Amino acid sequence: MKLCMIGTGYVGLVSGVLFSDLGNDVICVDNNNKKITNLNNGKIPIYEPGLEELVKKNYQNRRLKFSTNLKESVSNSDIVFICVGTPTKKNTNAADLTQVFNVAKQIGTSISKFKIVITKSTVPVTTGDQIEKIISKKKSKKSFSVVSNPEFLREGEAIKDFLYPDRIVVGTDNIKSNKILKNLYSPLISKGAKYINTSRRAAELIKYASNAFLATKITFINEIANLCEKTNINIEDISIGMGLDKRIGSRFLRAGPAYGGSCFPKDTKAITTTADKLKIDLSLIKSVIKSNDNRSLLLLRRVSEILKNKVRNKKICFLGVTFKANTDDMRDSSSTFMIPALVRKGAKIKYYDPTGKKERFNKIKNVSFASSIKSAMFDADLIIIHTEWNDFKSLNFKSLIKKKNFIVYDMRNIYVPSKMKKANIKYFGVGR
Ligand SMILES: NC(=O)c1ccc[n+]([C@@H]2O[C@H](COP(=O)([O-])OP(=O)(O)OC[C@H]3O[C@@H](n4cnc5c(N)ncnc54)[C@H](O)[C@@H]3O)[C@@H](O)[C@H]2O)c1
Repeated sequence: MKLCMIGTGYVGLVSGVLFSDLGNDVICVDNNNKKITNLNNGKIPIYEPGLEELVKKNYQNRRLKFSTNLKESVSNSDIVFICVGTPTKKNTNAADLTQVFNVAKQIGTSISKFKIVITKSTVPVTTGDQIEKIISKKKSKKSFSVVSNPEFLREGEAIKDFLYPDRIVVGTDNIKSNKILKNLYSPLISKGAKYINTSRRAAELIKYASNAFLATKITFINEIANLCEKTNINIEDISIGMGLDKRIGSRFLRAGPAYGGSCFPKDTKAITTTADKLKIDLSLIKSVIKSNDNRSLLLLRRVSEILKNKVRNKKICFLGVTFKANTDDMRDSSSTFMIPALVRKGAKIKYYDPTGKKERFNKIKNVSFASSIKSAMFDADLIIIHTEWNDFKSLNFKSLIKKKNFIVYDMRNIYVPSKMKKANIKYFGVGR
């Protein structure tokens, strides 16, 4: 099939590349000229394990193309996927749908023959209805069908998640569109992915409800971790003990920093805003948002306690600053809150991240990037393991750090406390 992905970001690029790898002709469109020029020159704009090889392979065999020309790309395709951003609207908690509606308007003027227009972007319930309205101002409803097909991939695991999804959700009551999409996804269905067809609105809500539930699960275990810290219980025991119950499940039950990233923070806010508009109070999700906001403050207080309230002039090393491992995504990472807050308290921060220097820290005084783990750690008073990269999982702290009385604050509970004690290292974890 001929597919057009509009928005060549984490979702558009990954799904575009993988659809091409499955044998479709795919054109990925973006209005960021630099991104498209780079991609046409083999430069990948994001860090996602395994992506570069797949982009190169499918670009070389000409099944994958990149363009800034939306009109031509839409016109030459059978299926158009909207994969643009839906960030939080400034000064509100609502999803900003400007990018989605702009694209819908452009699609309206670019349709020549029948097209399926799919929202892969995460959009509030009834956005599909609005997209349909926008396009129908330019084209007859017979010449297009608007479908919701939310994306569930996780950054860092995106390729595996796309190829082996737990489920594929397609929201449409158009029989023809459903048949075409089932056919498009048949290589994944034959490998075991469950395909479900729902109403368009249900598909939109499934995505938000899923993200809100996962955010709730993380927040739940983070709160239980606080209780463990006061009662001398190891949160890992609780996670295992709870997770073995099949009704609960072990995933997303690991205590750590506040959840961040490009999805949970904005999606939890957006779903409560949608509900407020409909006079429904999603009080549970609201309290999750509040608890998560408090979490970074709480961990900051913990840092102060660990340093016996003497943060000024302390050298603090952050290992990993992205919101999780195996991605370069900094959106809403808890480090973006914690690092500036520690600087304000007089700390001097050095950070190392496997995905390199981060622009947002460039202008903050007393924050510097170290190009290796060793140079980040060697003169530190406190090492904060913020992200769970494999690179940080078997460090020989004593040989890497010059100071004798350094402290390790392991926000991901990577290390075993008893082993650290044996090695005579001052060590703190989360919830234990
Ligand atoms: N990142 C994830 O892990 C993930 C997972 C599932 C769902 N989602 C959802 O998918 C959507 C996209 O997320 P993302 O992380 O890929 O965003 P992103 O910011 O990485 O990519 C969006 C891209 O759209 C482009 N764009 C914006 N307006 C455009 C226009 N008019 N024409 C062409 N291109 C345009 C931007 O330049 C950008 O490259 C969001 O709604 C998000 O919530 C994201």
